[in-house]
Amino acid sequence: MIPWLRANYDCEVVAVVADIGQAEDFEAVGEKALSTGAVACEIVDLKAEFAADYIFPALRAGAMYEGRYLLGTALARPLIAKAQVEAALAHGCDALAHGCTGKGNDQVRFEVTYRTLAPQLRVVAPWREWDLRSREDEFAYAAARGISLPVTPEKPYSIDQNLWHTSTEGGVLEDPAMAPPDDIYQVTTDPADAPDEPRVVEISFERGFPTAVDGERLQPWRLIETLNEIAGAHGVGRCDLVESRLVGMKSRGVYETPAGTVLHSALRDLESLTLDHATAAYKEGLATRYGELAYQGHWFTALRESLDAFIDASHQTVTGTVSVRLFKGTCMPVARVSPFSLYQEDLATFGDDAVYDHKDAAGFIRLWGLSAEVRARVLAGPAGPSTAPPPDATAAPESAVPRVDGAVSRNGGERPARSARPAATS
Ligand code: ARG
Repeated sequence: MIPWLRANYDCEVVAVVADIGQAEDFEAVGEKALSTGAVACEIVDLKAEFAADYIFPALRAGAMYEGRYLLGTALARPLIAKAQVEAALAHGCDALAHGCTGKGNDQVRFEVTYRTLAPQLRVVAPWREWDLRSREDEFAYAAARGISLPVTPEKPYSIDQNLWHTSTEGGVLEDPAMAPPDDIYQVTTDPADAPDEPRVVEISFERGFPTAVDGERLQPWRLIETLNEIAGAHGVGRCDLVESRLVGMKSRGVYETPAGTVLHSALRDLESLTLDHATAAYKEGLATRYGELAYQGHWFTALRESLDAFIDASHQTVTGTVSVRLFKGTCMPVARVSPFSLYQEDLATFGDDAVYDHKDAAGFIRLWGLSAEVRARVLAGPAGPSTAPPPDATAAPESAVPRVDGAVSRNGGERPARSARPAATS
């Protein structure tokens, strides 16, 4: 892209390389940027910010796209775009460019962010402008200029890697009917080859943010890095899926998100202990919406900030430790503790307890089922239900329960007496 930009725009190019946790020889990339014609190359370390301000908030929200994708690429794009904008402004640039194709989500994520943060800068998207139509054309263009590429015609995968995930698309994966070849996985062991001994790892959270692994406090990006290694070795975090791109088409991708898979599972488990049902259920909807907005490039928006505010409130007590068992590609929470646990053993026990009066349940159940009962009676009409409910020994006083018995029916006739309750109570 650098020679192409210079040739077609007669401009200087400042390259920006984001270190967002991918395995990369950054020095070599920097040298390549300069040797292919950039006037400067900024290598920016975004790992800490990525983990703390992008990954963890999305994790805390339970954000997933279409129920499975943990958003590794989608979360990184707004941050990379922000770093580009900052470099562009510092260097006095008048335009921004990116290397995304015209078919994917990433062009949207980059450009929406550019326009949000620096609408005055022009956007150049070479992939949408140049006449290189395929990977093959690109290989030829680079070869003619003596530029080496990290992809080859034999392994034409489009790979995106960062601290949170590795995603692989293209090549044979374009046929969703074909299982991925074994050699496409980069950071996870094949579950079949994973250790025969399970590993139990302890994850601590404070207010919904992960803080420690096996009791060792780690800064966010270190924590993710550490867990990636532990979980990746046990084959945890592989996901092969078909997703709906924002630009309309379905696409197939293979994702490896070892730490992410463990953290989502552990946090969800801790929430089951510390959130009441209504809050947890409401959050489910927000998690879906959060996943969509992140996927669709709306990171820097009022909605995302507002959802973060909700999660911040709901997660004040999501503090504690979850033990997760990793074994041959699976990850299963097996124990959890929290100072804010809503689980009260004296309440839940089948043994004797002093707090809970079983008799309270009877009246509660009558009222809880009342609207369903009324509806069933109305629908059954004068003939009554086909099977009468059994006599209710704990019946509340008759006056507490509205009856439709004896009501005047639509045709004006008296309904026949009902046998829903013992005659003595009617
Ligand atoms: N489909 C994923 C997304 O839209 C990943 C895209 C980038 N990955 C890649 N291998 N090119 O977030």
